[in-house]
Amino acid sequence: MNRTLRCSAGSRLEGLLDVPGDKSISHRAAMLGAIAQGATQVEGFLVAEDTLNTVRAMIAMGVPVEGLGTPRMEIEGVGLCGLHPPAGPLDMGNSGTGMRLLLGILAGQSFSATLTGDASLSRRPMDRIAAPLRQMGLRVEGQGERLTPPVTVHGGKPAAIHYDSPVASAQVKSAVLLAGLYAEGVTSIAEPSLSRDHTERMLAAFGAELSTGTGADGRPVASLRGCQDGLRGRRVRVPGDFSSAAYFVAAALLCPQSAVSVAGVILNPTRAALLDVLARMGAQVAVSDQAECSGETVGTIAATSGALEGTTVAGDEVPRLIDEVPLLAVLATQAEGTTEIRDAQELRVKESDRLALMARGLRAMGADVRELPDGLVIHGPTPLEGARIDAAHDHRIAMSFCVAGLVATGETVITGAESIETSFPEFPQALRRLGGAVEVG
Ligand code: S3P
Repeated sequence: MNRTLRCSAGSRLEGLLDVPGDKSISHRAAMLGAIAQGATQVEGFLVAEDTLNTVRAMIAMGVPVEGLGTPRMEIEGVGLCGLHPPAGPLDMGNSGTGMRLLLGILAGQSFSATLTGDASLSRRPMDRIAAPLRQMGLRVEGQGERLTPPVTVHGGKPAAIHYDSPVASAQVKSAVLLAGLYAEGVTSIAEPSLSRDHTERMLAAFGAELSTGTGADGRPVASLRGCQDGLRGRRVRVPGDFSSAAYFVAAALLCPQSAVSVAGVILNPTRAALLDVLARMGAQVAVSDQAECSGETVGTIAATSGALEGTTVAGDEVPRLIDEVPLLAVLATQAEGTTEIRDAQELRVKESDRLALMARGLRAMGADVRELPDGLVIHGPTPLEGARIDAAHDHRIAMSFCVAGLVATGETVITGAESIETSFPEFPQALRRLGGAVEVG
C-alpha cells in the first residue's frame, strides 16, 4: 500500500484534542504484561502497526490477550519463563523498539527465536543489542557486520554484567535490563546521557528491584537485580504520546492566528525536552492540568502562533527530543536567525536517515539547510514552497513535512505516507478537525 498526503497553507488551527497512547509505553506494557504473573489491564494502548506487532509476537509465543486491536486490552501474563517457542519468525514490522526490547526478553528463554522486519527495519543495526547480550554469554546472529535483521537469539541464562553503552539509547538500555531480569545478581548499564526512562519506571511498578543514579564518572546508570520472584501483573494507563502531540503544537506555532491545546500528554522530562527548546525559541507554549498517570506525569500543552527565534540543540538534550528533531528542523526554517542541531548522529539509523531526508526535503521547499555529519544548521526565516517529498516510509518524516506543507505556498505532496500507520493512523483526520488543509490520497 502506498499513501500520499497532500497539504496546503492558509489554515488557521484551533481546538482541543487528545492524542493516542504513547508508543514507547504501549510496547513496554505489552511486553511486561506478557512476562508478568497474573493479569495486566492496559487502557489507552496505542492501536497502530508497531505496537500491534509487539502484541502479536507475544500472542505467537502463547500469551493470551483479549481486546487486540482496541485501546483496552487484558494480557494474561505467563511469567518470566512461560513463553512458548514461536512456530516461525516473529515479524516486528517497522519497529526498532519492538525488535530490540524483545531481544532482551528472548535472551532469557529456553528456546531460540528469529525476528524479522520490513525493508526499513531490515537495514537497522542490531549489533548494539548483540554486544551486551553476547557479554552476558548469549549467542546472537544477524546479517553482515552490523547484524541487521533477520536476527536470531539463542535464549539461555544471561550472566549479570555491567554494560558501558557507547550510545544513549533507551532501546539498548531496555534490552539489557530485560535480559537482566533473567540473570542472577545485579545487571547495570551506564549510558553517555540519559535516554527515556519508561522501562525503569514500568519495571519498578511491576515489582522489579531497580535503582537509578549516576556513576562515579557522572554517567547515568540503571541497575536491576535478577528477579527470582518474577513480575506482578497490574493496571497500566498509557498517557498520550508526546511525539504525536508535538506535530499539533508545531503546526499551531507556525500557522497564523492559531491556538491548539493537546490534553493528557506525557511530560516525562526524558521525553519532553522539545518544550525547553520551544521556550528558548520564544514560542508561546504553556503547560497546565498536570496529573499523575501510571507513574508518569501528564498535562495539557497549549500552543499559540507567534514569532520564533533560532537556538542551539546539542549534547544531553538530544536524546530527550530524539524523535522531534525532524519537526524541530521544520520549525527552524520559520525562526529568525540560525538554529544549530548537533550530536544527533543517531538520527541516521532511525526508520530512515532522518538528517539526510530533512535536509533534502526542506531544501526542495526553499529552506536554507546545511547538513552536518551529526546534525543540521538552518538559517531562517525562509518562505517555503510546496514540493513533492518522499517520506521514504518513515512516519516522522511524513508528519513533519505535513506540518511544513501547512505553511508552504502551493501544494506539498508527501509520498510514502502510509508509514503513519506505524504510530499515528488518525493523524490526518486529527489535523483536519483542527482546520488543517490535509488530504489523504
Ligand atoms: C524508543 C527509543 C528511542 C526512540 C524510539 C523509541 C523506545 O530510540 O527513537 O522512537 O521506546 O525505547 P533510542 O533511545 O534507541 O534512540
